[in-house]
Amino acid sequence: MAPSFDDATAASDTLGREIARRRTFAIISHPDAGKTTLTEKLLLYAGAIELAGAVRGSKTQRHAVSDFMEMEQQRGISISASALEFELHGHHVTLLDTPGHQDFSEDTFRTLLAVDSVVMVLDAAKGVEPQTLKLFDVCRQHGLPVLTFINKLDQPARDPFELLDQIEKVLGIAAAPRNWPLGDGPDFKGVYDLDANSVLLYERRKTGRRMEPLLVAAPDSQEVTGLVGERRQQALIEAVDIIAGAGTRFDREQYRLAKQTPVFFGSALNDFGVEPFLEALLSLAPSPAPRPAEGDVLVEPDDPDFSGFIFKIQANMNPRHRDRVAFVRVCSGRLAKDMLVTNARLDTPLRLSRVYRFFGRDRETVPEAYPGDVVGVVNPGRMAIGDTLYAGKAVRFPPIQQFPAEQFAMLRPGELRHKRFDEAVLQLSEEGLLQVFMPIHGVRNPIVGVIGQLQFDVIQARLQAEYGIQCTVDRMAHVAARWIITEDPSSVQTPMSGVLQCTDRLGRPVLLFQSNWELRFTMDKNPTVEFRESM
Ligand code: G4P
Repeated sequence: MAPSFDDATAASDTLGREIARRRTFAIISHPDAGKTTLTEKLLLYAGAIELAGAVRGSKTQRHAVSDFMEMEQQRGISISASALEFELHGHHVTLLDTPGHQDFSEDTFRTLLAVDSVVMVLDAAKGVEPQTLKLFDVCRQHGLPVLTFINKLDQPARDPFELLDQIEKVLGIAAAPRNWPLGDGPDFKGVYDLDANSVLLYERRKTGRRMEPLLVAAPDSQEVTGLVGERRQQALIEAVDIIAGAGTRFDREQYRLAKQTPVFFGSALNDFGVEPFLEALLSLAPSPAPRPAEGDVLVEPDDPDFSGFIFKIQANMNPRHRDRVAFVRVCSGRLAKDMLVTNARLDTPLRLSRVYRFFGRDRETVPEAYPGDVVGVVNPGRMAIGDTLYAGKAVRFPPIQQFPAEQFAMLRPGELRHKRFDEAVLQLSEEGLLQVFMPIHGVRNPIVGVIGQLQFDVIQARLQAEYGIQCTVDRMAHVAARWIITEDPSSVQTPMSGVLQCTDRLGRPVLLFQSNWELRFTMDKNPTVEFRESM
């Protein structure tokens, strides 16, 4: 039976309400700035986990909610991005974890496509660090609004104005302080909320309860003197004057347009300033916005037709379930269990009978999902990163850019080559962990291309742990791969002996080069051939 007018109106009301309460974000930082600690405190505060240390324990013993690979635990780095979801004050919050290590920047790039805003964590003693800058650039490319948390105020910190200035100069975004630190390190007394005119005192003792912010009249009031002492009060009065006169005024619209980042000071480890920060995130961060699709189409989240795209594929997330999961970011409409959707690339229908929500290692089936949500489709068959799924009218989101591989190695299985090895390498390539190339001449062992050295270790460890395959990784001197676009690939001249002819996993011709000079020389010799960095 066709839905009645009333049914359709009720569905659209529900859809609108669900979209409005969604907040989907990721945290970026340079390693060690405190991303994991802040994640844990946010989850603790939201009641999504019960124990400190559940996200990760000490460096020597990590029990991860968000880190599920043993290797991540051993090395204390977060490699695979996972989704953490929780409800707070009527909001439905999804936090996508991003790998902090630069060797996994491609994974992070893809994850940042799936969020609506970002939290940037800086170490107050270090300010903007190289990895922060790289990740911020990705946020800028995606036009993502960024909230900043300056962490570790309990330790000696740089001057707050210097930190704001660095954000503005190095990242090229206006920085609007929302609170102001009262001292730092052993002298740290708390923060002054510039909007609410309140002082949040830093309590060093573990009292088991959170301090409430204390409302005060103004920075120069008697109450402030009593709370923080004359010296800190004087510094605060001067700072407030400077901010009012020459500082960046907070402007929500500018934040939404990614032209300004509101800045908060605190200490994640001491659970200080986390609560107001999370409140600000809920009230300021945007709910899912329209997304551009191919053909000049803008997909509105409240379009009743479901659409979403795959930004991550992960095999063997849980050794108990030997399966593959495609992570889908819902962009429009309502996703219901057992829904029939189409994969736009393959133009094939697919019934979504096994749709899950993940929380680290745990999973539960999802009866429905709304824009902003991230769900996992289990055993998705031929789905690949960047695929669009839709129900109703056809839509296709732009392909996800692949990073050019910079390091190459030949994989040699310990035993004789077998089908399982080929399959395992193919699966890892579909996950986006590696690019695989097969040499046309000589030994037909797969060559893998990656961005960073650590990925080789992960490939080797995963082949062993998940597929029981031992293999050696023989590093090669090559530095670049180019797909060659021409009618007759065999006619391409490769005058340098180091140039290696290969095919990719779809059988398309690719050349590997040992230097950029070799690449340019080959390009000069073949002026009619197109050399593509990625496909
Ligand atoms: P990351 O995910 O960005 O890499 O950083 P992570 O949270 O792992 O924090 C890095 C180190 O900084 C950890 O110490 C953590 O305890 C510490 N830290 C985080 N927030 C604060 C803070 O507000 N103040 C202070 N003083 N330290 C903070 P670690 O000794 O390297 O590891 P662990 O043994 O504590 O796990």
